[in-house]
Amino acid sequence: MITVNENYLKLQASYLFSDIAKRVAAFQESNPDKPIIKLGIGDVTEPLPPACIQAFHAAVDEMANDASFRGYGPEQGYDFLREAVALNEYAARGITIQPDEIFISDGAKCDTGNIQELFSTDTRIAVPDPVYPVYVDTNVMAGRTGAFTDGRYAGLTYLECTAENHYVPDTPSEPVDLIYLCFPNNPTGATATREQLAEWVNYAQQNKALILFDAAYEAFITDDSLPHSIYEIEGAREVAIEFRSFSKTAGFTGTRCALTVVPKECKGYTASGDAQSIHALWNRRHTTKFNGVSYPVQRAAEAVYSRNGQEQVRALIDGYMTNAAVIRDRMSALGYDLAGGENSPYVWIRTGTDSWEFFDRILNDASVVTTPGSGFGACGQGYIRISAFNSHANVTEGMDRISAALA
Ligand code: MLT
Repeated sequence: MITVNENYLKLQASYLFSDIAKRVAAFQESNPDKPIIKLGIGDVTEPLPPACIQAFHAAVDEMANDASFRGYGPEQGYDFLREAVALNEYAARGITIQPDEIFISDGAKCDTGNIQELFSTDTRIAVPDPVYPVYVDTNVMAGRTGAFTDGRYAGLTYLECTAENHYVPDTPSEPVDLIYLCFPNNPTGATATREQLAEWVNYAQQNKALILFDAAYEAFITDDSLPHSIYEIEGAREVAIEFRSFSKTAGFTGTRCALTVVPKECKGYTASGDAQSIHALWNRRHTTKFNGVSYPVQRAAEAVYSRNGQEQVRALIDGYMTNAAVIRDRMSALGYDLAGGENSPYVWIRTGTDSWEFFDRILNDASVVTTPGSGFGACGQGYIRISAFNSHANVTEGMDRISAALA
């Protein structure tokens, strides 16, 4: 008899964004004449930067010739991209990350989901609440939690992110081993200062814990005083892994390219306390289960760091941030308390009513898709998230419609 992994039965019926997509499809079917504007899932809408397209085309042409054709590439990514990342994302900010500490992958979602395989089943996990659902669901699948009751899984430590702490959680009073942090935050858009990250690094050092730092939205930081990387904090190389992505930065959500930084000093421990290199374990996993991102995609990602690429990516991000400002202004004018949208493409809005109810109201009355905050956890109840990822015209029209519906 084939038995199933019963941990899967503890999961919520479907993934948040699949759930939303189903509701939107049902609405569209019964209202075919109402054009929908999507400000829900953080999916980019603007085309890839021309510099990336050019590099992509050239690499495809290389694949058409005997002399330049390439088969399997290195699982960890081509040196040209790892070197470009080390130089432009890290050395440029005074951070030392070696190219061989960078693992190129097909997405931060996959990497933040897969990384937990390296740790024992009894690892004590801390996640923010609200939280990007992938961090939680993958640990549920792996059997690190109990049942789901009242919006939470037994066995997880939830780090509450509320208006009172400006959505930046304090270190927990109980010891935990693996800590998920995301700044700029998805979904709240909150950012953490150097001092706040230093407290977390200190906590991890004291507790021999590891921080999984999701920096997928770092390119949206506009405030120069804020850290872009956890490695700006002294000591972080020993206790933190960082995830980055080309998805939101350069429009690669459909093209797929991301990276994970695992410094060689990062250690995990055996039950008897022997230190083990996380870099070696991740390399072992990556080479066994992954065959690398395609060559043309890596060439397209490398082009992000060309002079034209940098200008074009900056323009894309500026465009989305102009949208975020529109969302902030319009929701503030309607009298809603909000966070985010200043160093982040997400605006987190306190609705004062049930999140799904508010989501349905905006969908039905304005034909605009948002994301209900409760889908991100118990602390998200009473909030919605509005994403700045759409064209300026759509965001402006979407906010006009929302204003009319809520006025
Ligand atoms: C989101 O909307 O939260 C993101 O698009 C999800 C993701 O990046 O997987």
